[in-house]
Amino acid sequence: MLYRGPAGETINVVRYASSGTAEDFIALSSTCPHLGCQVHWEPYNDRYFCPCHNGVFDPEGAGVSGPPGDAGQSLPRYRLSIEDGLLFIEVPVGGFSADAGASEQRAGIDRDPTSCDGCGPRRSDRNRA
Ligand code: FES
Repeated sequence: MLYRGPAGETINVVRYASSGTAEDFIALSSTCPHLGCQVHWEPYNDRYFCPCHNGVFDPEGAGVSGPPGDAGQSLPRYRLSIEDGLLFIEVPVGGFSADAGASEQRAGIDRDPTSCDGCGPRRSDRNRA
């Protein structure tokens, strides 16, 4: 599932389990840590791919080849929490003047989001042999 953060960043949210906790999910930035290009999910290869310099990331976002793999870089990961049946993505925001002490903004999503365009790995992808 893909979501847009408050600054327009793309966040890939993937569900890996169904225990009912935030640990069932992983939320990754689609911004490559090498030079900032956008990665995309390749379900047929079970990986995220960055077309700028052929960077490859595993489904958990760890760089496995190309410049990110060589440098030991991973896709940035967002903290998640669940409250009252809603999954929250904790997204850092800059220049948030309404509360000078605020370093994060939480974007709530429900568990059956309709804004999903299906570009991230799905649980069924992870269970493939
Ligand atoms: S920007 Fe992604 S590999 Fe270089």
